[in-house]
Amino acid sequence: MVLGCPEDLLSLATTYVDNAYAPYSGYRVVAVLRDVHDRVFVGVNVENPSYGLTVCAERVALFSAVTAGARRFKEILVYTSKPPPPIPCGACLQALSAFDEGGLRVYVHVGGGLCESFALAELLPRPFRL
Ligand code: THU
Repeated sequence: MVLGCPEDLLSLATTYVDNAYAPYSGYRVVAVLRDVHDRVFVGVNVENPSYGLTVCAERVALFSAVTAGARRFKEILVYTSKPPPPIPCGACLQALSAFDEGGLRVYVHVGGGLCESFALAELLPRPFRL
């Protein structure tokens, strides 16, 4: 684990955090995903009264990126304004792993605090692959 967060992704995350739809948990999350062509895609968590339908910010960003034709990614910043740190859940790690060519970096930042940085493979060392 190393420290340091891309400022442009962080700035976008703070702009979008109020768009997170989290009336049940009150925990607002933004994910900002950058592809190898430096295109940037944003997602927020979207909760639902049928709780299991909630989708995390990371998968919203990923699916939006894939919809736009992006396939190869450099990094993703996951942001929330208050603790705990939004370490991506197992489902999001698995979803991201399908597009990881070995170097996808995951930044985790809580507003006003430190930015943590991980390789995706550190967080999910044995993803399922077909
Ligand atoms: N959540 C995310 O969007 N990403 C994470 O990395 C952690 C959890 C969301 C899902 C749910 O809306 C809320 O945070 C509480 O679990």
